[in-house]
Amino acid sequence: MDHRMGFSPLEGEFEFDALPIEGEVPPWLRGTLFRNGPGTWEAGKDRMRHWFDGLAMLHRFGFHGDGVSYANRYLHSPQYRHVQREGAIGYSEFATDPCRSIFKRLASAFSPEQSFGSNASVTVHKLAGRFVALTETPLPVEFDPETLETVGVVEYEDDVEGIGTSPHPHTDPESGDALNTITHFSRTSEYKVFRLPAGAGTARREVVARILAREPAYMHSFGQTERHVVLAEYPLVVNPLKMLLTGRPYAENLEWKPERPTRFHVVDKESGKLIGSHEAEAFFAFHHVNAFERDGEIFVDLLTYPDDAAIRDHYMDALRSGKGPTAAAELRRYRLQPNGSTSYETLTGEPFELPRINYEARNGHDYSYVYGIGQDRENPERWPDRLVKVNVRDGSTWVWREEGCYPGEPVFVPAPDGRSEDSGVVLSVVLDAAAGTSLLLILDAGSFAEVARAQVPHHIPFGFHGQYFGEVGD
Ligand code: CO
Repeated sequence: MDHRMGFSPLEGEFEFDALPIEGEVPPWLRGTLFRNGPGTWEAGKDRMRHWFDGLAMLHRFGFHGDGVSYANRYLHSPQYRHVQREGAIGYSEFATDPCRSIFKRLASAFSPEQSFGSNASVTVHKLAGRFVALTETPLPVEFDPETLETVGVVEYEDDVEGIGTSPHPHTDPESGDALNTITHFSRTSEYKVFRLPAGAGTARREVVARILAREPAYMHSFGQTERHVVLAEYPLVVNPLKMLLTGRPYAENLEWKPERPTRFHVVDKESGKLIGSHEAEAFFAFHHVNAFERDGEIFVDLLTYPDDAAIRDHYMDALRSGKGPTAAAELRRYRLQPNGSTSYETLTGEPFELPRINYEARNGHDYSYVYGIGQDRENPERWPDRLVKVNVRDGSTWVWREEGCYPGEPVFVPAPDGRSEDSGVVLSVVLDAAAGTSLLLILDAGSFAEVARAQVPHHIPFGFHGQYFGEVGD
């Protein structure tokens, strides 16, 4: 089997106290890596059409000093429960819609709770003291970090309207609050930047800023500097009224309008003031890598694409037929100057995605290292088959690769006594297609050499993001 095994479902739920280990797990590594991603794209009589739409499955790797434990469970979201009960999908996904009459569709368009099933398959975070699974619809789903059992959809105690949010909130280092964006689609659509206080128990969002958007863009992530948040508004937009009437899922309402610029909106985190909206050429990105300020200028690093092909490339029919991506991401550094002008430089020729940095130490600051899953430069249409580390200061690159292996997002974990930015390890779930199983790979983040691997007895479908927490499972 080749990489397409990453798109085959994993039906079973398992729990193993100790996975077989090769090498030596660093004794300081004590905590939990949660991973999120689709467990299956089958939904009774229905089938999810897009990679992003599969039913969320959580995976937990526990590091206990002397071993690595593993468990996985489906997230019991409203969508999941509907599929179990009715044998069909009940809510809209990114690129898959349930069969509904126009009347039902219009009725649910005015009620996000009725439209979306909180199939939170993108990542895991700790928000307001709770462990939650996140996606691009607004309501997180809380789960128990020990058992992976679903606690339930988080009900916000506020009336912040909006349906499209980022699964990549930032942590404000000053307050520990989460900062995020949400897009409200209506006759007068707007992006809102909001703050979710860190204190356990409260789930009340406070709107920091509002930015009007006639045709709101699809924004998967945003940037944070010391004082600002930076939204990159790509010319990949929807017309909210048209969307209501087409009866097609969100992704199919996205229109690529390259005659329009990409706009960088810079918002002051404290005052909420829109400091500037800088125009650059049209491009698209899923992921901001980092952003920082220097001498009155703002630098924004993102993985850019020339157009929106990266979304269209990930429909399941194409992926299962073996088609790889048609576009390779380019790491660009945009420089936003106080006079409104922008320019960019390309930081590396290495195409990669699912970027991670030493977030705790370097988010919002000038930095050196980014980690990601890389593609073959000569054959970018092949599925990403390597892990890369890039020094953004000089472009130097480290690569980990093994024949027939397909790694997932590399999560950086800092060593407790780490003296440099890359002191620590990188954790990645790797599909070994030939063996038909997955493994948890631990690389030394400095040398990018393998330290250890823990063997999982089954395969883990290709997922998206995860998070490491030092305090769980100690
Ligand atoms: Co993402």
